[in-house]
Parts: sequence; C-alpha cells; structure tokens
Amino acid sequence: MNKRTRRTVIAGNWKMNMTPDQAKKAIEDLRPLVKGKGRCDIVLCVPAIDIPAAVKAAKGSRIKIGAENVHFEPKGAYTGEISADMLVSSGVEYVIVGHSERRQYFGETDETVNKRVKAALNAGLKVILCVGEVLAQRDLGITKEVLSMQTKIALSGVTEDQLKNLIIAYEPVWAIGTGRVATPDQADEGNGFVRAAVAELYGKKAAEALTVQYGGSMNEKNAAELLARVNVDGGLIGGASLVAEKFAAIVDAAQ
Ligand code: PGA
Repeated sequence: MNKRTRRTVIAGNWKMNMTPDQAKKAIEDLRPLVKGKGRCDIVLCVPAIDIPAAVKAAKGSRIKIGAENVHFEPKGAYTGEISADMLVSSGVEYVIVGHSERRQYFGETDETVNKRVKAALNAGLKVILCVGEVLAQRDLGITKEVLSMQTKIALSGVTEDQLKNLIIAYEPVWAIGTGRVATPDQADEGNGFVRAAVAELYGKKAAEALTVQYGGSMNEKNAAELLARVNVDGGLIGGASLVAEKFAAIVDAAQ
C-alpha cells in the first residue's frame, strides 16, 4: 500500500467552539460544499454537547462525526467523563485521543492516552491519535525520539487488526493555533517518523497502510502543498474547520 491506496482523511477539530445551534448551522452550511463522491473521508470532531445536533445535521451526508476525547473506564464514578459506549450509542464514529491541549492543560500522559486508545478501539470507535513534539524538543533535535516514544506507548496492547481503525495525526505543538505551519518537508518528515515507529511495532506493510495526518495551522492556502507529500494522508484542522468554506477548500485540496 502507498499514498495512492491509503485513505485520505480530512478531520476538523472544533475544540471548545460552537453551541449546538451553531453546530447545526455549520454542518448545514458545509454539506452542499462537500457533496459528491470524493476520494477522502470527512470527519468533524465536535464538543460532546454538540454531538446529537451534529449527528442529526450530518445524517445522509459524507460528513462523519467524532468526539474530542473519551474516558478509558466503561462506567462508574468519574464525574464529568464520557465513555466510549456512550459515544458509540450517540452516533459517533471517530474520537480524537491525546491531543496536545489535553496533554498540556489536562494532565494527559502517554499512559492515559494508551488506555483511552484501547478503550475506544475496543468499543468500535475509530481513533485519531495525536502525537507531536514541543518546540524545545525540536530545538534539541529529539523530534524523532519523542514521536517514536509517544506512538509506541500509545499503541501498547493494540492489535495489528485494530490498526484499521486507527489514524495518527502528527501535530507539532509549536504549529497548533499559532499560524506557524510546519513546512511541507517538516510535515513529511514528522509523519515519516511516526510511520517508522509503527513499522517497528507491526512491520512495514501495516505501517504503509496507515493513514497519517498532519495537523497544526493547516488552512485552505497551505493544504494542497502539505497534502501532496508522500507521507501526508490528510489533515487534522482546528481553526480553519470552524468556517465551512475554508474547511471545504481543504477537502477540495485533498481530492
Ligand atoms: P489549528 O489546530 O489548525 O488551529 O492549528 C490543529 C489542532 O489542534 O488539531
């Protein structure tokens, strides 16, 4: 398998934006812009409270709905948390795990990321696993080691068969929400480091079949150049996913 045969996935990450009413309108605006049989999958990962409205608004379209996080326990005394089964029964198909904002602001560790990945996959969700180095790590020249370590810990206990429901998003933390996008070379190299780590765990064939996205200030202007790279199989898009026209333009660039 190679870039031509791997699935391209364009996913939006709305973060803490959009009320349910705004979510409904945003998806209604997006639907006609992404109509038709494209070569890429389209996902919108939305705040938990928006899920019912988003699932309803996306019904019958190409747009799949994802969540932005999931708890690793199936149920119990975990105030404020949401389980994988709750997401599945609400019509959610994808979930982001290990986003750097969760690692940075909410104490997420490689170990809890691993637990969430396994819980989500075991429940039948498709996982978008985020990995990425901070600027100090890049400056130290340890980007490859950081990506390899995050990837390997996150996938500990994940079977090769479950990889078909896994996407990894390489998101350099210094590029997220900063407008400072990685160069196409940096994105391709980072995605390649991630793929190499997956190859060490599961072999080259499995790694070649894996969709690896780039994320971090991807927008309608820079998407085509990033997506043209051999290791870049899609994007995880924050800011630009909030505006239907911008997000649709990125989808266009991917197909
Ligand atoms: P950004 O966010 O596109 O706003 O940089 C990307 C992300 O956090 O996934």
